[in-house]
Amino acid sequence: MPESAAVPVTEAPAHRVIGWGTGAVGREVLAAVLDHRSGLELVGVKVYSDDKDGVDAGILVGREPVGVKASVDTDRILALDADCVVYTPRLTDLAEVCAILASGKNVVTTAFLFHPNRISQADRDHLLAACQAGGTSIHGGGLNPGVLSGALPLAMAGMSRTIQRLTLQERADWSVYDSTAITFDNMRFGSPVDEIDPAASEFLAFNSAIFTEQVWLLADALHAGIDEVTATVEAVAAEHDHQIFDHLLSAGTTAGQRWKWTGRRAGDALVEIETLWTVGNEYPKHWPKPQHGWTLTIEGDPSMRTHFMSLASFERDATMLEHVNSANVATGMAVLNAIPAVCAAAPGFATQASVVPRTLIGFGNL
Ligand SMILES: NC(=O)c1ccc[n+]([C@@H]2O[C@H](COP(=O)([O-])OP(=O)(O)OC[C@H]3O[C@@H](n4cnc5c(N)ncnc54)[C@H](OP(=O)(O)O)[C@@H]3O)[C@@H](O)[C@H]2O)c1
Repeated sequence: MPESAAVPVTEAPAHRVIGWGTGAVGREVLAAVLDHRSGLELVGVKVYSDDKDGVDAGILVGREPVGVKASVDTDRILALDADCVVYTPRLTDLAEVCAILASGKNVVTTAFLFHPNRISQADRDHLLAACQAGGTSIHGGGLNPGVLSGALPLAMAGMSRTIQRLTLQERADWSVYDSTAITFDNMRFGSPVDEIDPAASEFLAFNSAIFTEQVWLLADALHAGIDEVTATVEAVAAEHDHQIFDHLLSAGTTAGQRWKWTGRRAGDALVEIETLWTVGNEYPKHWPKPQHGWTLTIEGDPSMRTHFMSLASFERDATMLEHVNSANVATGMAVLNAIPAVCAAAPGFATQASVVPRTLIGFGNL
């Protein structure tokens, strides 16, 4: 067959991407985009820290310069031509997200919007108006909240005849998480135990709200007919001092947080997400002791349990930092791999039910 008659290989169209935030998750996203194996092209990077302003994106992820400079200037980033923003800041700004969507850029985010049906009507209206104005879609996903509290339990529930109760337990030792801005400043480890409360800070309220949203998502998708979701937390004090990266966690301050977000119907707990979070090597004796990672249990017919964990590798020796980062990789990839579907979706919300991320790299490009 002459070469000109060969069947052309159709490549997926490249999507131009902006990384919005270069924290633990954002950096993993940037590294994946820069690999150039994913059909994604990096065209801009939004940062918040002045010391990252003007720094090349390659340098920010420990590589050679790639010719794309990060900027703290939101208007400058908004003016860029791009198909999708990967939005991973610590705190979300609805007006900012609406401006991104209205400027014609789709958004995938690990930070919020896991169950749009349950956000306030006013916020929903703003987001939908921005999507209509820009002809764009927005998708919230990640690991937990995300695949572990959405796609995975829903798939498992699909094997049920009846369900009495669904629980997701997250056991994590945050001592190894290399972002004390998250663990101490936001999650409030090291604070007095009586300051650990959903209403104690903007972040704790926000964090509690997104897990509440997950319980509603599961309950709504499984027609559980719950009438409330409550949030409770037990904070446990450290018995000893612990050095956690650049922070000293003092004895007597918060070293354990057991949160429960419980969806009830007429008082019966049907759907629950529970966290068993610690910092330092103490573990409260009265807490349950699941394996590290996520344990998903359905009590019903049949009763089923699965345990999820991510590591850098099950085969090679890897450092603790690499293992910890593997969850950031999974979080970032859950939204990065959704980009083609989100860009192709009709304007509006692309939910975890409508978008199943499929790897953009997979085996083929190893
Ligand atoms: N769904 C999930 O499974 C999942 C899992 C993990 C994390 N998350 C969420 O994903 C997001 C990123 O997490 P991470 O672990 O990468 O956080 P991180 O390492 O603490 O990074 C924080 C990010 O926030 C930016 N930032 C700094 N000051 C800010 C401000 N005033 N307002 C808004 N952002 C500011 C930082 O800017 P620079 O770029 O300048 O450093 C950085 O990009 C968070 O919203 C987190 O809650 C979700």
